Amino acid sequence: MTRTDGYLLDNQQAEAGERFDAFATLFDPVTFRHLQGFGIGSGWSCWEVGAGGTSVISWLAKKVGPTGKVLATDIDTSLVASAARPPVEVRVHDVGADELPGEGFDLVHARLVLVHVRDRERALRSMVKALRSGGRILIEDADPALQPLLCPDEYGPEQQLANRLRQGFRSLLSERGTDLAYGRRLPRLLREAGLCGVQADAYFPVASPACAALESATIRQVRDQLVSSGLATDEEIDQHLANVATRTMDLATAPMISAWGRKA
Ligand SMILES: C[S@@+](CC[C@H](N)C(=O)[O-])C[C@H]1O[C@@H](n2cnc3c(N)ncnc32)[C@H](O)[C@@H]1O
Repeated sequence: MTRTDGYLLDNQQAEAGERFDAFATLFDPVTFRHLQGFGIGSGWSCWEVGAGGTSVISWLAKKVGPTGKVLATDIDTSLVASAARPPVEVRVHDVGADELPGEGFDLVHARLVLVHVRDRERALRSMVKALRSGGRILIEDADPALQPLLCPDEYGPEQQLANRLRQGFRSLLSERGTDLAYGRRLPRLLREAGLCGVQADAYFPVASPACAALESATIRQVRDQLVSSGLATDEEIDQHLANVATRTMDLATAPMISAWGRKA
């Protein structure tokens, strides 16, 4: 059910479900708008890479219906396993290392996944290879270097602390091999992979209650690493969590770049 070697935000930790709920609130409308634009419908065969939770695959399952197929893969399927009933199949799979789990897909989608994959070049090649001719790919990934702040309006000590801890979190991600400027590269990478009609856009919330939920869960999840790396003290983390809990801070996320194209 799990092979999480090297992934900082392990799905086995209690906070992972909270993070997936926040991603769904923040990003599902963007993802679904793009997928609707492709004309997704009955009978489509889809591969959801690094599925995480159930919100995207449940939506896909409704769209493709009983004649379609949704293959949900992840290195850790603990939080997606409950959705495994036709047309959804759930499989443990490392997109950067394992053989293709299938071919001839009408749609391949990954959201906030490739940025964490060590061999993301290979992962992208696999995802393109898995498409049928004319099939669509949608890759959505963060670009924390484009907008690095948790509080873009840094008007007081709470916001300064928030932005300092965000910088610490980014350091942890970099140490694990995360490409913090990956999102912006996606349109070029899709063109270089031979896809047609490549386009991309970006989205990030500037203030949303879901950002507070995401930040609280993320910081609790990486607390030990922040402290042991000397990037923050326990007192600073407690203070920041208390500040976030007031729900009065305007918290943003990194921009999510959505890039899409069609296989010739
Ligand atoms: C930030 S979460 C995003 C989850 C989901 N796609 C979403 O948008 O809510 C990243 C997910 O990618 C998975 N993941 C990380 N490395 C992976 C790999 N090499 N192959 C497949 N999945 C991977 C993680 O286990 C986690 O579920």
